[in-house]
Amino acid sequence: MKRTNYCGDTNEQQVGQEVVLKGWVAKRRNLGGLLFIDLWDREGIVQLVFNDNENHDVFEAANSVRNQFVLEVHGKVQLRAEKEINPDMKTGKVEVAVDSVEVLAKSETTPFDISDGVDASEDLRMKYRYLDLRRPEMMKNMKLRSKVASIVHNYYDGEGFMDVETPDLTRSTPEGARDYIVPSRVYPGHFYALPQSPQLFKQLLMAAGVDKYYQLARCFRDEDLRGDRQPEFTQIDTEMSFATPEDIQEATEGLIKRVMKEVKGIDVKTPFPRMQWQEAMDKYGSDKPDTRFDILIHDLSDIVKDSSFKVFSSTVAEGNFVRAICVPGGAEKYSRKDISKKEEYIKRYGSKGLAWVKVTDEGYNGPVAKFLDEKADQINAEMGAKEGDLILFVAGSFHVVCDSLGYLRRAIAEELDTIKPGQWNYLWVVNWPMFEYDEGFGKWIASHHPFTMLNPEDLHYLEDGEDPHKAHAQSYDIILNGQEIGGGSIRIHDPKVQEKVLKALGYSKERAEARFGFLLKALEMGMPPEGGLAFGLDRWVMILAEADSIRDVIPFPKNSKAVEPLTAAPGKVGQQQLDDLAIKFDKDVDYKLD
Ligand code: AMO
Ligand code: AMP
Repeated sequence: MKRTNYCGDTNEQQVGQEVVLKGWVAKRRNLGGLLFIDLWDREGIVQLVFNDNENHDVFEAANSVRNQFVLEVHGKVQLRAEKEINPDMKTGKVEVAVDSVEVLAKSETTPFDISDGVDASEDLRMKYRYLDLRRPEMMKNMKLRSKVASIVHNYYDGEGFMDVETPDLTRSTPEGARDYIVPSRVYPGHFYALPQSPQLFKQLLMAAGVDKYYQLARCFRDEDLRGDRQPEFTQIDTEMSFATPEDIQEATEGLIKRVMKEVKGIDVKTPFPRMQWQEAMDKYGSDKPDTRFDILIHDLSDIVKDSSFKVFSSTVAEGNFVRAICVPGGAEKYSRKDISKKEEYIKRYGSKGLAWVKVTDEGYNGPVAKFLDEKADQINAEMGAKEGDLILFVAGSFHVVCDSLGYLRRAIAEELDTIKPGQWNYLWVVNWPMFEYDEGFGKWIASHHPFTMLNPEDLHYLEDGEDPHKAHAQSYDIILNGQEIGGGSIRIHDPKVQEKVLKALGYSKERAEARFGFLLKALEMGMPPEGGLAFGLDRWVMILAEADSIRDVIPFPKNSKAVEPLTAAPGKVGQQQLDDLAIKFDKDVDYKLD
């Protein structure tokens, strides 16, 4: 028999009607003579009642089912007795008195309880992902993701964007991570790379005259994983010809506005604030500033440059910075030991220490108070500090002070619970440096990617004898509550500029030609001025879902070790496949097939 409705959609209008429902047994309670089953499907749960006196056979059948059995039931919708009404449940006013029940599938005892707030390990949840996804909170996340994707399609379609696919077996686009590579059987020793993004293809689509492009595109990056990163993720990827940064930002804001309204019922105000990259770093210590709380970083270099505290005065003399944050009421809340822990933690950012003072009615308190008391009035005025506050100082290079204090302001705001819930702080960070020095690689890299257009007034920095690293770019990131959800830029459409940028990144003419010759050629054959942006769909949905991890909004994610526990990928392949690909391992690779 055809189902009349989803379990979770059963409602008061159906009282007295016969319904046919199909779903999973979420719970069964036998009260002796009366038996209740919670029947679940993707739309929710409905309560089934079985009465031994009225229908003994059906009662017995229901009594023999177990959790996660799949049932078909026929019955009549009835109102629950007043005291049985469950106001927390969508179907809480009704129940279904069952006339017949059929077991469509049985289930073994599941390895964990299928309920919200599950306490199984994440790997176990991933191994049995289909069970994990049966949990209401996971189903809710999948629905949210589907809804956002549907709005994305409707929105860009309505704005005249064309949905165009780009290849997954390709050569890589440098977005700053390692590539996943795929060996070619036809050309042994040659490899495809999975795209880190469709960046170059979408530029070529502008060369093709597509004018406005969008795609929900899969991207692959072999990088260190964190709670907001996956090796394989999805971008809402866009590109527009003849567009200014404002055009692209406006189109993006339109999408965000619509998603916030339809998904959250919230009217967000546009245009979003624009913050200069420099201001984000100076005040928030981060290129993804969290503006939900106002502990801000202050520069004290000028005030302490002649301080008797040598750590500070010598730092300023070396051209570096002394900066601080003020923790309101922090004097009492933070003990010496708490502060030492933080001092230890920020060593990972290159910090050499964490100086601090507590503000009292008799001046400063703490190990370096005696050096800083002479500057107390000036420091307090700059910091807005008052009695009972704690001031934390870091002295060091620009990146060390930004990273350390940026971390501290966020960690402390969380510890003190100062972030009011329900804030949706979208903002643009604009005017990025074109290049940044990567300590890990020990070389200059593009802050966004090498196809980003500089500010026109900075083009001269690419000339011989000038310092290209001073140039800023026409790039912009979209930030939500301190997380980067998207980024984009105007692209270089002049081949000469592109060559100079590749040169500044250390590409010889030959290497640039070998790697990006196809792009440079396209730039020589009618490339329109253009730009675009890509959103991290997973990251955005994670924040919208108020989930803790990106893995909770991806149906089949990888774990933190880049393993997909359900199918046990990555796995080994047979000798024949290896031979076909002309792949031989180094002798110390243990490669016995399981
Ligand atoms: P970018 O590298 O900034 O830009 O990526 C765009 C957005 O994708 C998301 N993202 C990720 N999400 C999950 N896991 C990851 N490993 C991951 N890496 C990135 C982020 C990020 O903001 N081609 C350019 C865009 C452009 O210039 O148009 C690009 O890929 O939310
Ligand atoms: P020291 O001179 O190393 O004994 O440090 C004296 C105090 O200055 C300690 O509280 C250190 O944490 C602090 N300190 C040392 N180096 C720095 C620095 N670069 N920035 C901030 N505080 C520092």
